[in-house]
Amino acid sequence: MKPACRILAIETSCDETSAAVVENGTIVLSNVVSSQVQVHRQYGGVVPEIASRKHVESITWIIEEALRQAGIGRSELSAVAVTQGPGLVGSLIVGLVAAKTLAAALDVPLIGVHHIAGHIYANRLVEELKYPLVALVVSGGHTELVHVPEPGVFRIMGQTRDDAAGEAYDKVARALGLPYPGGPHIDRLAADADVPVQLPRSWLEADTYDFSFSGLKSAVLALINQAKMKGDVVNRPGVARGFQEAVIEVLVGKTLRAARETDARQVVLAGGVAANRGLRELLSRSCREAGLPLIVPPVEYCTDNAAMIAAAAWLKWERKQFSPLDIKAEPIMKLETW
Ligand code: KG4
Ligand code: ZN
Repeated sequence: MKPACRILAIETSCDETSAAVVENGTIVLSNVVSSQVQVHRQYGGVVPEIASRKHVESITWIIEEALRQAGIGRSELSAVAVTQGPGLVGSLIVGLVAAKTLAAALDVPLIGVHHIAGHIYANRLVEELKYPLVALVVSGGHTELVHVPEPGVFRIMGQTRDDAAGEAYDKVARALGLPYPGGPHIDRLAADADVPVQLPRSWLEADTYDFSFSGLKSAVLALINQAKMKGDVVNRPGVARGFQEAVIEVLVGKTLRAARETDARQVVLAGGVAANRGLRELLSRSCREAGLPLIVPPVEYCTDNAAMIAAAAWLKWERKQFSPLDIKAEPIMKLETW
């Protein structure tokens, strides 16, 4: 029997500092996440310079805590994985420096991972994956439909042409006077509405898998401003539900079409917006009706975390695709060549 492979992974691409230890790509021994959201909330969004400084403050104790919770010593680690990109450059550098230092000191391989590959492979922490599959990646910075024909091979079928889904959620939430990050608040408010306010669906050209959310966002802002100018009370739950329905109908519609076109055996959901109850419900129902198996990871694996980075790193470990110690942070990084 092969000895267990224990990967320590580090994720610092945005405003979560996280370290995890995962055994053989699927068994999560620990997954420690420290969110900076309280710090950034007062500014209404992530301030990159503050994010980097907070990562510097937390990274050492987060790694120690991940090892402590996993109940293993440093000498029992097989490799160190780290998010190389995409993300905020200053934030990525903090994780990379920590990962390189550990890998060099322990004399174990370093594995650079693409953040979105991590989000997709969060699903592997929950269930065996069946290929070909289609992944819907929806987060604060990304909205992508990805065809995964075989393990570790990614082909982007469509992506947002403007705002990411989570970004649109956060901007609309701000206009409705809700705190950052707004996604969970809109999700809750939408559940209070009896009737949705009607808003446009942005399907774009018939054959495209791309998305666009800025028109919808502008429609919401115009509606709120008109109500304010007339002195009317804004129907906040109705707007939240109308916005949510307009976003998720398009996300789910395009995902099912992509799955049909690629003869997918499975659909997987990924990214922070995957926590959205409306999206989970509609996607579950639509996949069930289409006879398509769906994986929706638990919320702690949907939002940024290091366990997902370890899950993706496992693919590279098996193929011995290790990274040199001079890899750089890649704020913009192609998923296809991860
Ligand atoms: O994946 P993530 O943790 O960070 C990025 O890589 O961007 O995603 C964060 C995004 C935020 O925009 C947040 O508002 C959104 O996910 N989000 C939600 C929900 N929970 C988090 N959006 C809609 N409904 C939710 N329940
Ligand atoms: Zn993310």
